[in-house]
Amino acid sequence: TSISTFVSQLPKVELHVHIEGTLSPSLRWHLAQKNQIPLPQYPTYKSLVASYATMYNHRRELHGDNGLPTFLEAYYGGMEVLRTEEDFYDLAMEYLAKAADMNVRYADPFFDPQAHTRRGVALAAVMNGLERAKRDAKEMYGVEVDWTMCFLRDVDPSSAMETYEQALEGGFGHVFHAVGLDSNEYDRPPSLFQDIFARARKDGYWITAHCDVGQKDTHEHIREVATSCVGGLEGADRIDHGLNAIERPELIQIIKQRSLGLTLCPHAYHRRLPTEYVFGNIKRLWNEGVRITIASDDPTYMHQRWVLENLELVMYHCGFSGGDMVRLQRTGVDISWAAEDVKERIR
Ligand code: ADE
Ligand code: ZN
Repeated sequence: TSISTFVSQLPKVELHVHIEGTLSPSLRWHLAQKNQIPLPQYPTYKSLVASYATMYNHRRELHGDNGLPTFLEAYYGGMEVLRTEEDFYDLAMEYLAKAADMNVRYADPFFDPQAHTRRGVALAAVMNGLERAKRDAKEMYGVEVDWTMCFLRDVDPSSAMETYEQALEGGFGHVFHAVGLDSNEYDRPPSLFQDIFARARKDGYWITAHCDVGQKDTHEHIREVATSCVGGLEGADRIDHGLNAIERPELIQIIKQRSLGLTLCPHAYHRRLPTEYVFGNIKRLWNEGVRITIASDDPTYMHQRWVLENLELVMYHCGFSGGDMVRLQRTGVDISWAAEDVKERIR
């Protein structure tokens, strides 16, 4: 069988996808019309779709201003059409239907509540929409899903704490099972957020944080997440990205000792880094026995590379056998935060 047939039939998990990063141009267009939000840059649907072909891989802090929107500007701009509970439900259900089509059995996507509340959207609209989608996706599509509340690291940590407490006080504590850290990593080490991580740990949530390759100080960020994210007591449960940990034996030792899982998003790196670097490092991590899983990050802002296409890239460029791919998916189940009975069922 071909790589794409094999990969599409493989039962899958997806552990690193931002739900707002799955907003399709067609749903964005529809919601803009429904909510009467002008898209002045895109007079036609066709021009909106065409804009997604642009490479949003420029980091202004690192590379200077080239006049193009950065990836994060495009991502935050896109989500402005999301306003009501129904919109968040539709966003989530569109992704989860597609996940089911790709034979994804379990997913724990991220959502960015602050990116919505700072635009005047009620937290309850976000939480209710996601809660309903979690329930319905299981029933309608057979996909198990739970949510990870991500905090914006380029925003004051007190806002993260306020958002989190507001969610718990609103009775939405059961809608998510983990907290994470995303957005612009530049000069924003995870240790700035140790209070909220400590609080979430005490409340029984899983913990993860982004440490993307190619950012400033990534190795130091990985070290913090692996060792002292929650007030110096224990590290996080997973690391999002962490590809360049392989360059530091001392980091690999900690990651292996703690059995931390890495959620890798090959196309997110491949669009800006050499093939040999990206897939060479993925293979080295795998051969080292580090627990990794392959995911998509922000598929609609990354040239429509969904988890399927990311797995195809890995099978091809890493030269993995069918057996390797099955073991890779089982590793994903192991490092997922699915309930034990769900893990049994999908393993
Ligand atoms: N938030 C959503 N997608 C992101 C990414 N690729 N990097 C940092 N923050 C993000
Ligand atoms: Zn991410």
